[in-house]
Amino acid sequence: MADRVAEVADLVTVALDELLPRADGPEARLTEAMRYAALGPGKRLRPFFAMEAARLFDIEERAVLRAACALECVHAYSLIHDDLPCMDDDDMRRGRPTLHRAYDEATAVLAGDALQTAAFDIILDEDTHDDPGVRCELALRLSFASGARGMAGGQMIDLMGVRDDLGGVARMQRLKTGALISYAFEIPLIIAHAREEHRNALLAFAHDLGLAYQIVDDLLDAEGDEDLLGKAAGGKDAARGKTNFVTLLGVDAARERVTHLAQQARDHLAPFGPDAEMLKASVDHVLHRRS
Ligand code: IPE
Ligand code: IPE
Ligand code: MG
Ligand code: MG
Ligand code: MG
Repeated sequence: MADRVAEVADLVTVALDELLPRADGPEARLTEAMRYAALGPGKRLRPFFAMEAARLFDIEERAVLRAACALECVHAYSLIHDDLPCMDDDDMRRGRPTLHRAYDEATAVLAGDALQTAAFDIILDEDTHDDPGVRCELALRLSFASGARGMAGGQMIDLMGVRDDLGGVARMQRLKTGALISYAFEIPLIIAHAREEHRNALLAFAHDLGLAYQIVDDLLDAEGDEDLLGKAAGGKDAARGKTNFVTLLGVDAARERVTHLAQQARDHLAPFGPDAEMLKASVDHVLHRRS
């Protein structure tokens, strides 16, 4: 499993390196900053899910890989902005200085903006898929997952603070983290014109996986190893008064919830039969992460 994740991560990094713009002149600072953030040592889990889920269908890898690179651009942009002093004010990301530390705040804002639009350049390019309808649907769904009804909306809720109720926290997590993780699964579903049963099963899987993924992130914030994580931990969320499953339920109950969600996620894959074994095995791999 670790080998397969690493293989896809390499494939995506090479593809992203080719797809991201380069520039001469003063704007080279912007393209270098975009590359610093997007090509840095991330786990590339969202592209991994897209590529792995694509194996359930008979579709071309090229389209999935390009859309997965676009998704990784949006993810990289979300992390750049998330780390800014006006948001989480973090100095370390992926074991290196955050972008605004390595460059400056204005460059970080612009690099985030330009990575977001780069995602749509990549998807809407004819090289992604012969059918313009498929390209439009891929772009539309990414736009939903990134914007006010997705990641950006969830980040707003995070900054506003949620009331002490689990439903409110679950909704915030579904938007800020779940939406982009779900999009990883929408990529093959859109390209394959998948039937309703498969669509519902994979999106239900994505929903539980996405929620579990953010709870694990919150657990790692509370008790993870900063060196392994490559970003701040030590109870930083709690110290800032953030509400999440760990601050509400405590570590043990949050961990139980992750176990429950993981089982529920795997059960949703029943309609795919033995073809989904790899995807099922990936659940524990990503939820037992230390980095
Ligand atoms: C971090 O995402 C932010 C969350 C939504 C939890 P990842 O854990 O996927 O970070 P990278 O891409 O591997 O750095
Ligand atoms: C952020 O969640 C998720 C995003 C949408 C970027 P966190 O703020 O907990 O992510 P980390 O811990 O900084 O990676
Ligand atoms: Mg945050
Ligand atoms: Mg953060
Ligand atoms: Mg976190």
